[in-house]
Amino acid sequence: MLIPLLTEYEKEHISARQAIPERYLGLSDDEMDGRIAAARAALGRRLVILGHHYQRDEVIKFADYTGDSFKLARQVSRHPDAEFIVFCGVHFMAESADVLSADHQQVILPDLAAGCSMADMADPDQLEQCWGDLEQMLGSTSAIVPVTYINSAASIKAFCGERGGVVCTSSNAAATLKWAWERGGKIVFLPDQHLGRNTAYKLGVPLDQMMVWDPGEIWGGLEPDAVRRARIILWKGHCSVHERFTVRQIENIRARHPGVRVIVHPEVPWEVVQAADEAGSTEYILKTVRESPVGSTWAVGTEVHLVNRLAREMDPDRAIFSLDQFGCLCSTMFRVSPNHLLWILEGLIGGEVHNRIIVPDDRKYWTRIALERMLSIS
Ligand code: 13P
Ligand code: SF4
Repeated sequence: MLIPLLTEYEKEHISARQAIPERYLGLSDDEMDGRIAAARAALGRRLVILGHHYQRDEVIKFADYTGDSFKLARQVSRHPDAEFIVFCGVHFMAESADVLSADHQQVILPDLAAGCSMADMADPDQLEQCWGDLEQMLGSTSAIVPVTYINSAASIKAFCGERGGVVCTSSNAAATLKWAWERGGKIVFLPDQHLGRNTAYKLGVPLDQMMVWDPGEIWGGLEPDAVRRARIILWKGHCSVHERFTVRQIENIRARHPGVRVIVHPEVPWEVVQAADEAGSTEYILKTVRESPVGSTWAVGTEVHLVNRLAREMDPDRAIFSLDQFGCLCSTMFRVSPNHLLWILEGLIGGEVHNRIIVPDDRKYWTRIALERMLSIS
């Protein structure tokens, strides 16, 4: 298990979030389930609950739709009747939903402390600095297309949208990189260096044409020559959950379970994807395992809630386990509890909206353009 640490996002927002009232703590599971179900029924079509695959069982069982980031973002515009979109996931997902929703809709993140440490690794000032540096190093940025993973703040998405760039998710990353290379010779990809490297490599780009931009270093720690050579410049960011998976784990599992198939999320390091059999988004992982032959054994390199739920669903036809023997937990996804969900839903019935996510208007326009480009690429 990972030790939960406070991210920059959490430090900033924990004081601002509305604390869950005492009366919502210490309820029995039965009472919580019954009251959530009753509140959901009372809100009817006014409410849509979206749940990411890493959510806890006690929360995701109440989701109207489950999915990866791409699938959930798509659901937003499909529910124009819903007054409230409760996003059981993390902050960047709810921000994207707010931008894609209509003016009469309100998006709620049950616990505002549910951030994403990877998203915090790209800050808009650092990106402005990077862009200015690249302009100096190359003479112009007109042939560079900025591509940001959806796991980033709205301000980063807006920056990309305004400069002809785009947002991608793990499920359309390859199509997005092709889209971007058709529009410029070079890509700046942020914040996840691993997703960028894994995807570009799959598309045939050699590793020596990928450079890592370290925002903490002068000129990103790169020489102008290296920047000129690069087809893709990878921001030095990562997911602390997925960086825990290693090649050694794969070797050990193959030795202990001959015939095991290994499937990982593309946020894992490049050498881990090379050693695995398959890599893809959370939705892809679920689909691939569900459609595999009866009797298959799978080691899965992604968040532990998805893996455990899949193992139960597949039992006894297929054997599923985590690639990491302890399971890797996303501690921020875990912050969304059934207690929070109940508090939010009962608040809505009483006319109170807690923990609403509002992307400021000055960021909305270009963020929406970047997200709409994303939705058009699959
Ligand atoms: P997916 O879009 O594949 O669900 O990934 C989201 C995420 O945050 C993975 O860490
Ligand atoms: Fe962010 Fe990693 Fe958690 Fe995904 S698993 S939400 S990338 S910290």
